[in-house]
Amino acid sequence: MKNAKFTFLITAGPTVEDIDPVRFISNRATGKLGFAVARAALSCGHSVKLVHGPVADELVRGLEKSRGASKKLERVAVRSCSQMHRATMTAARSADVVVMTAAVADWTPASFSKTKLKKGGMQPVLKLKPTVDILKALGHYKSEKRSDLVLVGFALETGSGRPGERLASRIAEARRKLASKNLDAIVLDTPSEMGSDRGVFRVLHPEVARPELLRVSKEQMARRLVELGFDLCAARAS
Ligand code: CTP
Repeated sequence: MKNAKFTFLITAGPTVEDIDPVRFISNRATGKLGFAVARAALSCGHSVKLVHGPVADELVRGLEKSRGASKKLERVAVRSCSQMHRATMTAARSADVVVMTAAVADWTPASFSKTKLKKGGMQPVLKLKPTVDILKALGHYKSEKRSDLVLVGFALETGSGRPGERLASRIAEARRKLASKNLDAIVLDTPSEMGSDRGVFRVLHPEVARPELLRVSKEQMARRLVELGFDLCAARAS
C-alpha cells in the first residue's frame, strides 16, 4: 500500500463575486497553500485536480513547471463560488481525497449589473444572497454516494475574542464544522496565515481529542496534508 497513488482534488485561492463590471466582493486568500499541496501531491506521484480562484500568474507558472505536472495535473481556473461549486462537484466524481483550502465567499450580490452602477443611483446597502457551501455539499455527496471519499476541510477562526477563551472557542468551532460538514479531518487556522509563507495550524480528527499542532512553512504543511490524505485513503482501502 505504501506505493499506492491516489487522485487529490484540491481547491485554492479566493472566489470573487461580481457586483458590476468594475466592483466585486472577495477576500485576502492568495492560494499559496493550495498550490503547495498540489505541488507536494504531484511530487509524490499522485494525480491532482486543482480548482482555483483568481491567483498570481507566478503561482500557476511554478506549479505547471513542477515534476509530474505535464501528465498528472488537471487545472481549472474559476472566479465565483458557483463556478467553483460546479467544477469541484464534477471533479469529485473521480477523486479519492479532497483538500478544500479555498477561501470561498459566503455571500454573493443578489443581482449582477451588466453596466457600471452609478453612485448617484445606488443605495448605501448592498443586497446579498448566500452562496453554496461547497464542502458541505461534498459532505452530503459522501454520505449519499461515496462513503470512500476522504474530505479534509479548513476552519478559519478568530474565536470569541475573550481572553483565555480564544483557542478553546476556535477549536470548538472547528469541531462543529468537522461534524456538520461530514469531514475526515479539519485544519484550524487564522487570518494571519492568509498570504504568509508560514503559519500555525491545528489538525483535528473526529475521534482524537488532542489537535496536532504544526508551526511550519506552507511547504511543510502541504507535505503533511498529502501524507494525511494518503493515510486516510489507505485506511479506507484496507
Ligand atoms: N467552504 C466552502 N464553501 C463555502 C464556504 C466555505 O466549501 N461557501 C469551505 C472552506 O473551503 C473551508 C471550510 O468550508 O474548507 C470552512 O470555511 P470557513 O470560512 O472557515 O467557514 P464557513 O463554513 O464559511 O463558516 P463561518 O463563515 O461561519 O466561519
